[in-house]
Amino acid sequence: MRLLDVRNSSKKKCYNCVNFYKYKVVCRFMGFKVKDHYFKKAKKENYLARSIYKLDEIDSKYKILRKGDQVVDLGYHPGSWVQYTSKKVGDSGKVVGIDIKPINNKLTSLNNVSLFEKSIFDVNVLEDLGVDQIFDVVISDMAPNTTGIRSVDQDRSLNLVEEVFRILPDFLKPGGNFVIKVFDSHQAQTFLKQNKNLFNEFHHLKPKSTRSVSKEFFAIGKGYKA
Ligand SMILES: C[S@@+](CC[C@H](N)C(=O)[O-])C[C@H]1O[C@@H](n2cnc3c(N)ncnc32)[C@H](O)[C@@H]1O
Repeated sequence: MRLLDVRNSSKKKCYNCVNFYKYKVVCRFMGFKVKDHYFKKAKKENYLARSIYKLDEIDSKYKILRKGDQVVDLGYHPGSWVQYTSKKVGDSGKVVGIDIKPINNKLTSLNNVSLFEKSIFDVNVLEDLGVDQIFDVVISDMAPNTTGIRSVDQDRSLNLVEEVFRILPDFLKPGGNFVIKVFDSHQAQTFLKQNKNLFNEFHHLKPKSTRSVSKEFFAIGKGYKA
């Protein structure tokens, strides 16, 4: 995504990472201020992205994560969800993160975290993630590279969502919890309706920190029936 910054536009990208910007900039396509309240809060609290406040709200409301859990974070980069989850599950728990981006070395000092540079489309069995035990929780904040063309972005997001549901039987234990980001569309709503019965409880939430122009929301499943 490009930004409206006449001084140095070639160096700027529109992305939620809190370390990315030097100037006050406004995204040309989305029309939001990049350095908003949550961006500044994340920076101040040493979180790697403003996305932290989405997971915080989801977890506070639906009690997704517990001490000792083994969690897989799909599309973890830059890593604010990993920071949050690592603290929440503690030393007796484990967090495995995958992303197509190179491993973020800022997270490698966290003892209970393992990271992989890998696409969700290359994950088939637990051994691909260096574990032999099925996960207590699957979380996904994966987002495709956006084009600004709504239907294309919705299709790409749904493709990621479908892939996560495909691997669930092998990766999420019975009774486990689940969080996934979805770009809203008629097809996505239909897909979620068809799959909500896989869980004892199924919810939709648009966290307060989601930008008002964004069409994303999160689907939350509790008690996977497998
Ligand atoms: C919004 S960011 C995640 C932010 C993260 N939750 C955090 O707190 O820092 C979405 C991520 O999904 C990743 N992603 C997109 N397609 C992917 C794929 N096929 N497999 C794995 N990760 C993917 C992107 O590279 C990007 O880093």
